[in-house]
Amino acid sequence: MGGKPVRENKIYYGRQCVDEDDIQAVAEVLRGPFITCGPKVTEAERKLEEYTGAKHAVVCSNGTAALHCACLAAGVGPGDEVITTPITFAASANCAVYCGAKPVFADIDPDTYNIDPQSIREKITPKTKAIVAVDFTGQAVKIKEIREICDEFGLVFIEDAAHAIGTSYNGKQVGSLADMTCFSFHPVKTITSGEGGAITTNNDEYYKKLILAHAHGITHDESMMEEAPHEGVWYYEQISMGFNYRMTDFQAALLLSQLGKLEAFKKRRQEIVNKYNEAFKGVPGIIVQKEIPESDTCRHLYIIRLDLDKLTCTRRQFFDAMSAENVQCQIHYVPVYWFPFYRRMGYEKGLCPNAEEIYKGILSIPLYPLMTDEDIEDVIKAVKKIAVNYSK
Ligand SMILES: Cc1ncc(COP(=O)(O)O)c(C=O)c1O
Repeated sequence: MGGKPVRENKIYYGRQCVDEDDIQAVAEVLRGPFITCGPKVTEAERKLEEYTGAKHAVVCSNGTAALHCACLAAGVGPGDEVITTPITFAASANCAVYCGAKPVFADIDPDTYNIDPQSIREKITPKTKAIVAVDFTGQAVKIKEIREICDEFGLVFIEDAAHAIGTSYNGKQVGSLADMTCFSFHPVKTITSGEGGAITTNNDEYYKKLILAHAHGITHDESMMEEAPHEGVWYYEQISMGFNYRMTDFQAALLLSQLGKLEAFKKRRQEIVNKYNEAFKGVPGIIVQKEIPESDTCRHLYIIRLDLDKLTCTRRQFFDAMSAENVQCQIHYVPVYWFPFYRRMGYEKGLCPNAEEIYKGILSIPLYPLMTDEDIEDVIKAVKKIAVNYSK
């Protein structure tokens, strides 16, 4: 701060990677007869099934809607508890509140920052209905351990894979492993459809409920109707409560086009992660996220954690110094139960000590496929410059 910044123009922590092919794919749909409820939506669902290996996929308007539908399909309702992590976007907890249930926060592993299965066990009560486990930064949660807990206590395993399209766990794609897996295609995520989301599942019953939940509770399937025989081909029935959470066809076209580039995006993200990991080895005051061997991770975020005992600055000073170097970071995340909305519901600080401790030191530095080698070097230079300047 005050010196010459490492770069002239600002670089942000994330951004979409949309090219002419993507634009063409969207334009084609916009010129055609169906811009919603058309064939591209179905095509995107079949492609997601093929890619993840899940039996069913339902695309929807965003990742939050995906989580809401998954909770509804799981039967989450008033009086139930849903266990999730505090180090996540608010939607991972809000989805339980939408259903009248109570989110319960389990603590995180201090090295991987993912929800800690042992803490999940400690938070289970007779009211627990489901676990919303977040693949934070794209790294898969401990799926085997969480599966065992869900089987032991009869809970529904919802994986919030908003960060994790492209990740596999022990050789199997995320999306094929939990009872239901929710994805987000927001522009900062690995692939985008503008706004967008999806739920995948291998379970036929959940699939039927997801279809209903994301489209008004309405069915066109005669076998599901209650008043059959019906009056004509135009007839449909609303058989449950549902929402309008549909994805449009032009979003589905963008999603399909982006899915075709996912492996290339993953490769470039990994290259950047490797460069960062290498560069930050031994830098005073910088801790990098631990990776678990089971997860072949398509990394969405790169987080550095400041070891504040080794630095003379606060996280805020470090963050501001990065901005002054024209490297715009972000914090993922403020513990969800710290927000006024949750505090008013009775949640108190101190609930998850690991999460609160980690929150004090984390910041997300730029990571997206369009970064040039020069961009990467600039970010590394900025981190090192500031860490050395503030080292004790
Ligand atoms: C972990 C997590 N869950 C859920 C969501 C919600 O996704 P969307 O923004 O598509 O509604 C996000 C998105 O920011 C997220 O990061």
